[in-house]
Amino acid sequence: MSKRRPLVAGNWKMNGSRAESATLVSAIKQGMSTVAKAEAAVCPPFILVPLAAEMLAGSAVAWGGQNLSVHKSGAYTGEVSGPMLKDYGCTYVIVGHSERRAYYGEDDVLVADKYAAAQAVGLIPILCVGETLQEREASHTETVVARQLDAVINKHGIGSFKNAVIAYEPVWAIGTGKTATPQQAQDVHRFIRGRLAASDKAVAENMRILYGGSMKGSNAKELLAQPDIDGGLIGGASLQAEEFLTICRAAD
Ligand code: PGA
Repeated sequence: MSKRRPLVAGNWKMNGSRAESATLVSAIKQGMSTVAKAEAAVCPPFILVPLAAEMLAGSAVAWGGQNLSVHKSGAYTGEVSGPMLKDYGCTYVIVGHSERRAYYGEDDVLVADKYAAAQAVGLIPILCVGETLQEREASHTETVVARQLDAVINKHGIGSFKNAVIAYEPVWAIGTGKTATPQQAQDVHRFIRGRLAASDKAVAENMRILYGGSMKGSNAKELLAQPDIDGGLIGGASLQAEEFLTICRAAD
């Protein structure tokens, strides 16, 4: 692990009642007293963001959204905007998660627009990239990841990456229990950093690149030991406080 401060972010997806979320948030908040260096964040469903905000205010744990509208306000039924997330004290917002790309038709252009909408209000986008199994098997991993990154670099400039986090999430590893091997993950992380370095070495060196895809307490250590893996974006395991905290400790 480098000088970059590790970040472990929980992507709760569409899970949790108010009561369950309060229990989870409270346990994570308490458990963070055993974590020295790593930063932790939780990204609950929109409707639970106010609960997280209220419980985590002034604590070491940050919070964020899982998505946002490209618009600031207006007649967009069902949408939630960047200013609304900011109003609730969010630090981060996940952008371009593969589930949104696959199920909600978010393409590279829309993802780049959401990335900019987040930064426009001072939110830090966690930009997700990653290949499907089919793409990996066809040896297209680097082409796909490069295309997803370039869509943002070309539109908003390499300088915008000073205020961003990248998450490499191979689609075949998400929610499947099939984790990328540390070497597979490291190879893509190094590729991503190299891609940024081609435009700006300092930005590349400071960029936090998280791994996501079935990361859990038992495999976090070896993934996080890789030189270009700076933390994790955690789905399933972020719903159990002890698992999540074990990953935070491994990132320390
Ligand atoms: P998972 O999800 O940890 O459940 O694989 C990760 C993600 O989708 O962010």
